[in-house]
Amino acid sequence: MCMVIFAPLFAIFAFATCGGYSGQLRVSVDCINKSDSNLSIGINFAYPFRLNRVEFDVPMCEGRRQERLYLIGDFSSSAEFFVTIAVFSFLYSLLATVVYIFFQNKYRENNRGPLIDFIVTVVFSFMWLVSSSAWAKGLSDVKASTDPDEVVLLMSACKVQTNKCSSVYGPRWSGLNTSVVFGYLNFVLWAGNIWFVFKETGWHKGGAARYPSSSSEKQTTAFNQQVYNQGSFDQSGGAFTGTGDFAQSEYSQVGNYGGPISYTNQ
Ligand SMILES: *[C@@H]1O[C@H](CO)[C@@H](O)[C@H](O)[C@H]1NC(C)=O
Ligand SMILES: *[C@@H]1O[C@H](CO)[C@@H](O)[C@H](O)[C@H]1NC(C)=O
Repeated sequence: MCMVIFAPLFAIFAFATCGGYSGQLRVSVDCINKSDSNLSIGINFAYPFRLNRVEFDVPMCEGRRQERLYLIGDFSSSAEFFVTIAVFSFLYSLLATVVYIFFQNKYRENNRGPLIDFIVTVVFSFMWLVSSSAWAKGLSDVKASTDPDEVVLLMSACKVQTNKCSSVYGPRWSGLNTSVVFGYLNFVLWAGNIWFVFKETGWHKGGAARYPSSSSEKQTTAFNQQVYNQGSFDQSGGAFTGTGDFAQSEYSQVGNYGGPISYTNQ
């Protein structure tokens, strides 16, 4: 039941926080010739973090001349991998919920539902672990690449001592940090669910739980057995009476449960 509520929700959090991200950093270039300065250079970037395509113009502190620069790195593969896993995880958990609730019989048929569910759950657990780890690494690279103190090092004007380059502010990371946390939470959720799906397959009992009816059948047989034993015990009851507390309690149990049988014997 945990799975039904949290799996789609956690998947949404994971892909919304990552896929919906856009950030900005701002730097200033203060040239020795003040008229050439630009004290507020904004650089915007967003998912999927192809930073090497993020361009921005900065003054060269040589008259009106500007240079066009790009951020460094392309982290789209880990970001897109992460979001893809999150989207498919969301879709599968919705589908599984619908099948489980409305097609319970089809799900149980030939044990096919639990088997597929088990395999897919194992695969998704693994994928969440891999994609979250890849994205955690990608995110740390994105942070390094968009650090304003690193970005100013790309500017030729800033290599001249007399010009002053500095960071105004850096990007906010709370959203992306959250996405990594939710990635690992999803892994924990799916990995924990492996056990429950495994139980559904019935493998741990050597196939005993494959058909839900078999367990109730067993119960009925056991019950009949008990009644039968009680009956037979009652028949030869006289021989055993008073041999001890155990027999006594057994006898009283027969008295309680096997009432009608005692009657017929009498
Ligand atoms: C400073 O750079 C921004 C881009 O970040 C640009 O829009 C603005 O026009 C520039 N200002 C000057 C004075 O060149
Ligand atoms: C500063 O810039 C102005 C106009 O661009 C130029 O006339 C002047 O020579 C420059 N001064 C220095 C010190 O570069």
